Amino acid sequence: MKKIISVVGARPNFMKVAPLHRAFRPYKDKIQHLICHTGQHYDEKMSKIFFDDLELPRPDFYLGVGSGSHAQQTGKIMIEFEKVLLEEKPDLIIVVGDVNSTIACSLTASKLQIPTAHVEAGLRSFDRTMPEEINRILTDSISEYLFVTEKSGLTNLKNEGVPESKVYFTGNVMIDSLVHFLPKTNGTNVMSKFDAAPGNYVLVTLHRPSNVDHREQLSSLIDLLNSIGAMRRVIFPIHPRTSKNMEKFGLKNRLNSNVLLTEPIGYLDFLTLIKNAELILTDSGGIQEESTYLGIQCVTVRKTTERPVTVEIGTNHLVGDNYKNAEQVSKEILSGKKKAGKIPEKWDGKAAGRICEIIASSLL
Ligand code: UD1
Repeated sequence: MKKIISVVGARPNFMKVAPLHRAFRPYKDKIQHLICHTGQHYDEKMSKIFFDDLELPRPDFYLGVGSGSHAQQTGKIMIEFEKVLLEEKPDLIIVVGDVNSTIACSLTASKLQIPTAHVEAGLRSFDRTMPEEINRILTDSISEYLFVTEKSGLTNLKNEGVPESKVYFTGNVMIDSLVHFLPKTNGTNVMSKFDAAPGNYVLVTLHRPSNVDHREQLSSLIDLLNSIGAMRRVIFPIHPRTSKNMEKFGLKNRLNSNVLLTEPIGYLDFLTLIKNAELILTDSGGIQEESTYLGIQCVTVRKTTERPVTVEIGTNHLVGDNYKNAEQVSKEILSGKKKAGKIPEKWDGKAAGRICEIIASSLL
């Protein structure tokens, strides 16, 4: 029997590991697939609700590390994960995405000579001020299996000298979750809860440090939301980082009444809100991909994207960190100037199956 431990830590990890867990089921007599939750995200609405919505079992290991500075968080995860690895002696660990849990666990495994598979490898924003970019580069450089979601990832890894034998273009596991759970979105009551009419509201998510950690930026973003709010109802589920900063900078009362501020939202409800939105304004990585798959217009308030396919062939508009530009592009879209999009190659709901097949044929 082979043993694999998949790592989850932060909100965007859960929907990537859920399809992998399902795809390992047919191998259950030969491969034991376990889940370790680092506890990087710990609020019920940032974590537990996703386990429920995504039908994930309780994690086999919970490290409970919580928040902290980058060094504290990364260090604590490493110390706790090392204990799990020494006890369990897995044959492989799987990490997903680019959060601190991703690098912390891959680095711990690598020092113990346990091979790592990185799912969502090769993405690059080429902006090393983003903590995620450092996490991506380092994780890729110590992983044995690199599973890539879009072709830019293949080029990036080639340019970095990664041997082709380690790299597999398998598609996007987050889209696997979307495809699997889309039929279930019809059963949620989130639209009526927020009094939202399909195709007639703007969905907003903002949590990048570069947008929300400084008073001036956050204040200009609020002006932007108020201006969009004058045209359409805005629904803004707020990330704890953004919420805490709005409190700290005394900005919470500045949002006008057409901007509906809500707590973070679970997976099925959020998918329902994405699917029915007229426009999404975001700085998230994953939402750029989900909106491209669903053909929903997305304005990304960042200077760079590590997911260029969403701009090149999808419905994503990368508008930079000039919020005036974001306002103009948003208003054009709301006046009907929409971009037609296509679904990227291998975003077909079958990525996890391809990954499991590759891993199984190599381990067994
Ligand atoms: C992390 C990831 C980011 C990802 C995001 C998705 C890193 C470096 N960043 O950013 O790539 O896009 O998750 O959400 O890994 N907090 C809570 N409750 C929680 C979690 C966080 O209150 O359950 C608050 C804490 O004050 C914490 C802050 O949010 O200090 C930031 O959390 P952290 O995990 O450090 O980073 P995120 O901004 O969530």
